[in-house]
Amino acid sequence: MSFDIRAIRRQFPILSRNIGGQPLCYLDNAATTQKPATVIDALTGFYTKHNANVNRGVHILAEETTVAYDEARKTVATFVGAMSHEIIFTRNATEGINLVARSWGETTLQEGDAVALSIMEHHSNIVPWLQLKERKGIRIEWIGINAEGTFSIADLKKALKKPSVKLVSVTGLSNVLGTRPPLEKIIGLAHAAEAKVLVDAAQLIAHTPMNVRTLDVDFLAFSGHKLYGPMGVGVLVAKEELLRSMPPFFGGGDMIQNVTQDTFTPAELPRKFEAGTPSVADAIGLAAAMKWINDAGMETIAKHEHALIAHAQHVLSAVEGVHILGPANADDRTGCISFTIEGVHPHDLTDILGQQGICLRAGHHCTQPLHRHLKINASTRLSVAAYNTKEEIERCVIAIEKAQRLLNC
Ligand code: ALA
Repeated sequence: MSFDIRAIRRQFPILSRNIGGQPLCYLDNAATTQKPATVIDALTGFYTKHNANVNRGVHILAEETTVAYDEARKTVATFVGAMSHEIIFTRNATEGINLVARSWGETTLQEGDAVALSIMEHHSNIVPWLQLKERKGIRIEWIGINAEGTFSIADLKKALKKPSVKLVSVTGLSNVLGTRPPLEKIIGLAHAAEAKVLVDAAQLIAHTPMNVRTLDVDFLAFSGHKLYGPMGVGVLVAKEELLRSMPPFFGGGDMIQNVTQDTFTPAELPRKFEAGTPSVADAIGLAAAMKWINDAGMETIAKHEHALIAHAQHVLSAVEGVHILGPANADDRTGCISFTIEGVHPHDLTDILGQQGICLRAGHHCTQPLHRHLKINASTRLSVAAYNTKEEIERCVIAIEKAQRLLNC
């Protein structure tokens, strides 16, 4: 399928913005992606025509809202190859991981049991497990990375020799190194050792087709806003038998069958895990984002993004003083490229670029253990999406060179 980048860009209203007299050059997509008009229209369409609460009223607006929310869940289920009742709407990937830690972790793991985490995890897949460690005395088994920033299968095999490892919780794609842990292999090894697997797909979900059945993953969490969808909605996908065995995470309205003064009975899946009024418009917006991706073609988007990342790696490598984190071969990375520059602080660099309308992210990217492992405090990250162009990458690298000269003189 051919990829008409100009037609793609026209669908994103924000891309017509000028900043500092120059067109917006948005290369911070790993933090959040911009939204196509179809997603924005889905949000305004919901509030202008249908807005009501879900699963409660019988008036026309309530019925339309409930149907639209159920349809959104079906779209999400199809997108990841799950059944509708295995889709739990959350606020974001972080909430999905916390739900697993607070519900499955709290009731399944005992003192001395371990959760295996890689050193490249985002804080959202570290802190909930450290909190569980504080509450229940579980242990963390750290899985290292190889010299090129790839997941160490050798470390995982070593960790899984200990029967105490009950869960391997791993990112699908590092938000700093751009490397992808080999999920099929990790899941196969973990299951052979009778450990469950949680995949933090916050980054990966926007860059590759995913099917939870084929992958045989136990838990998968992601956010809508990194997938061209709205902020405020995320998804936890989990195997039905696990969700059935887990107690509700939040209690409140809409997650019960019956409540007495002494006790309550939880509702069936998925409502058992969706207490209170959900972010209905955002769920509908997320479904619109998935339809947009399906129309553009995930494989086509991935090919386009790969060409951009390969180009970025090529031109950035030629800049004196630039040190690229992660693989030397762009074929081993997806979505982003992070780097340091001798004598230039990432925050100073991104500040200067930002004034010219070029948006990159600087800092530790919520991965302090990884940055500590790499013996750096901060890095600069360039991350791409379907609407970026080679011209934007070139404009960004020219601006980096100029900023470098300014900051080093
Ligand atoms: N997790 C997002 C990032 O990596 C915010 O930038």
